[in-house]
Amino acid sequence: MATTVNTLEHHWMPFTSNRDFKSNPRLFSKAEGTYYWTHRGDKVLDGVSGLFCVPAGHGRREIVEAVSRQLAECDYAPSFQFGHMPAFEFARQVAELCPDGIDHVFFTCSGSESVDTALKISLAYHRARFQGQRIRFVGRERGYHGMNFGGVSVGGMTRNREAFGPGLPGVVHMRHTWSPDARFTKGQPEKGAELADDLKRAVDLCGAETIAACIVEPIAGSTGALIPPKGYLQRLREICDKHDILLIFDEVITGFGRTGKPFAAHSFGVTPDIMTMAKALTNGNIPMGAVAVHDDVYETIMRAAPEHAVEFFHGYTYSANPAGCAAGLAALEIYRKEALFESAAKLAVRLEEVMHALKGIPVVTDVRNYGLLAGVDIAPHGKPGERGYDVMKKLYEAGLLVKITGDAAIVAPPFIMKESEIEQIGSVMRKVLSAY
Ligand SMILES: Cc1ncc(COP(=O)(O)O)c(C=O)c1O
Repeated sequence: MATTVNTLEHHWMPFTSNRDFKSNPRLFSKAEGTYYWTHRGDKVLDGVSGLFCVPAGHGRREIVEAVSRQLAECDYAPSFQFGHMPAFEFARQVAELCPDGIDHVFFTCSGSESVDTALKISLAYHRARFQGQRIRFVGRERGYHGMNFGGVSVGGMTRNREAFGPGLPGVVHMRHTWSPDARFTKGQPEKGAELADDLKRAVDLCGAETIAACIVEPIAGSTGALIPPKGYLQRLREICDKHDILLIFDEVITGFGRTGKPFAAHSFGVTPDIMTMAKALTNGNIPMGAVAVHDDVYETIMRAAPEHAVEFFHGYTYSANPAGCAAGLAALEIYRKEALFESAAKLAVRLEEVMHALKGIPVVTDVRNYGLLAGVDIAPHGKPGERGYDVMKKLYEAGLLVKITGDAAIVAPPFIMKESEIEQIGSVMRKVLSAY
């Protein structure tokens, strides 16, 4: 389909170099299975599940039909003081996938909303137990928790923060877990658990009684797949327990099988108090997010409110929207029926081999991986991110979609990929990166 620059002008694109894009656009007009087709008709292998969204692949008829049926039957229902059946069934099934004790699910419309909701739940929880002075949050450098003010405040990506003022007051950041000593480690680095003691330092600095929650991505996805060192998440859990600080895992990328188990919490054997999710929740087909909370958190907030009162003053017009719930229920059924989390675990072995085979290419300075998620650092050239952006464009021209953040390439294939397609990711990356 021919598109002129004029028709592109009005859409202010998110996280995009708008002017450069509009001078040479990259548009997708069709998606099926593990491929996109561009507006020029070229086939592009989806090496990052869209944006970490579609483990079951594109164009799943089961989801299309479930959403279509739902829209015909009950298109929209208010979620404040009213409900509809699919929301309750979807919450039950999401809770069933969560670690034991995490049984209550609050629906949102995105990962960013899930994060801000989780932060608010933490504040409400402490207030309900007469600890309303606990208003600080502890986040982490190089963390990404979406683009709403709460998420930006606890996140640790400079460019996402610098233009938007101070954000939430009282946020403390721990150091990130990437270490040059651990470059080219397969899976979890052996060393670095002691970095979790930064939370203890925050306690010593601010007083535990001022801290509501500590939020981390179990694997920092958006800044290049930073894998937690062995024992790191366990140590965070211990410090949180000791000081009554809630532990929030942001599983927006890692949730729903990316690590080979339902959640990274399962893979790493650490149960948080609150988990945020989005993306694969509906196989990326309808914008939707969720926050799953431990029974203790839910019950404490319920008990503190008088009968008939709204217990938690928070929600969105599209929380638990019927089409999203229908898409989510259909997605979970596909994940179950096709044992896709198990497929992810199996395919992860091949991805590890393929990605680490890039070691030795002069511009490749690190490779990291866990489950079906991998990060490749590319030696910067010119301004930070300049070469990364060029790599992204060249990979796309060569028929491969990956996510680039700065000078890191992130790979996160759909779980339905064939081994030969994983190999294709490796060969296209090798060809493009070797040319620098
Ligand atoms: C860990 C994490 N949290 C939150 C978000 C924000 O999600 P959304 O873009 O749906 O608001 C993302 C998005 O990539 C993410 O990776």
